[in-house]
Amino acid sequence: MTERGNSYHQAPDAMIAAPSGCPVNHEWSPLNDDYLAEPYAIANELREAGPIFFAEKLGYVVITRMEDIVEVFMNPDIYASTNVQNPVFPIGDAAAAVLAAPDFNPVAVMSNRPEPDHGRIRVHTRAGFNRRRIRTLEPYITRRSHELIDDMLAGACPTEFIDAFAFPLPGETVFRFIGFPEADDELLKNWCNDRKAFSWGRPTEQEQVEIAEKMLAYWRYCRDFTKAKFEKPGDDFASELLAAHRDTPDEISYREVESVIYGLSFAGHEAVTNLICNALVSLLSHRDQWDQLADDPSLIPNAVEEVVRFNSSQISWRRVTTQATTLAGVDIPAGTPVFMNFASANRQPDIFEQPDEFDIHRSNAAHNISFGKGIHFCLGAQLAKIETRLVLEALVDRIPSLRLVEDQQLWSSPNITFRGPEQLLVEWDK
Ligand code: HEM
Repeated sequence: MTERGNSYHQAPDAMIAAPSGCPVNHEWSPLNDDYLAEPYAIANELREAGPIFFAEKLGYVVITRMEDIVEVFMNPDIYASTNVQNPVFPIGDAAAAVLAAPDFNPVAVMSNRPEPDHGRIRVHTRAGFNRRRIRTLEPYITRRSHELIDDMLAGACPTEFIDAFAFPLPGETVFRFIGFPEADDELLKNWCNDRKAFSWGRPTEQEQVEIAEKMLAYWRYCRDFTKAKFEKPGDDFASELLAAHRDTPDEISYREVESVIYGLSFAGHEAVTNLICNALVSLLSHRDQWDQLADDPSLIPNAVEEVVRFNSSQISWRRVTTQATTLAGVDIPAGTPVFMNFASANRQPDIFEQPDEFDIHRSNAAHNISFGKGIHFCLGAQLAKIETRLVLEALVDRIPSLRLVEDQQLWSSPNITFRGPEQLLVEWDK
């Protein structure tokens, strides 16, 4: 097992030229302001224009249709996931210097680790995401939701919902899942803030340095934490993974356990923050559907599926070809980065009837692609959906009059993949 090619944060891919024969789009980028503000109408136009094109500004081949995205996900030998965590823009010298600390050495373990190692590690991480462990989190999520709502109701109205609720709850949930002590929550939330900007956003050099410093501090914390759990195990995901390492050290190495712990707190945090916010944005701007959930909470699970389709927190993902191949009828060489546009596939009219309508009763809402497919299918999909369900159950019960403050700008920060408002002002009847 070499650790070199498996380092966690690789340099961005070099920009490639358009593969010959591939249509070229000179204008569109997922970082264009109009797309960041409202991606779906534009994503529909891109899909209607064709299944594949080269986005010149991004340097990626983009695919727009569900069937081609599924094809890519289901053929990991041709479409490798090694680039999924790579920063889109080069890391500046100052941030690179921070990450060059000799003890900063997490390895790629999950989404960006190729086979066969990924499969070897996933056997154990998957076992750790068992039903019992997720079930035992449910009372915690409900209790914390009610505590955060108590604080909201006791405080000022309107309030900013991300600070008050949507950032702390998923962070604390994934920290309990991993086994981090509650006493460290504030420290951990601070270190894990803004991680999505590092690999998928457009951070300034100063922001890169600040995030890199937090990543380093958090990695050091993960190493100390892993050591402590190794010596004194508990009933948590980290201890379960360490037990697997203890029993079969050739199957999962100690460094790999540390690295899974390091990666999980990101995977399980900001995407869920965004999903909870996107759920509120969609439901509260379709008031009749929010009211239906308040009247009949058994509708909530399907409403969550519809939010994941209609207004996902993750609207793209990446791959890179390992060999020359043909994709959507176009020949592309080895080394071609591929951008899978979930936003266009989740609104495909031959799969979803009236795809631009938000409908909590949609029977095939769960056919969305937002959690990926195949060998890297999101390990936290169940947890993310359960969290969002429990949050909505608590909110419709406690604050049925909840509404969005009118005329606010719902601004998503520049990011090629993660989508959700940076601020969400809500109010309710006092
Ligand atoms: C709304 C929330 C979430 C979305 C939209 C989401 C989406 C995704 C997607 C698209 C992938 C596929 C990666 C690929 O094929 O390369 C993925 C992988 C993964 N997700 Fe999530 N995720 C979410 C929440 C979570 C949570 C809560 C956790 C854990 C607590 C988690 C853990 C993971 C892990 C470990 C992988 C890598 C799996 C592997 O490579 O085998 N995710 N996620």
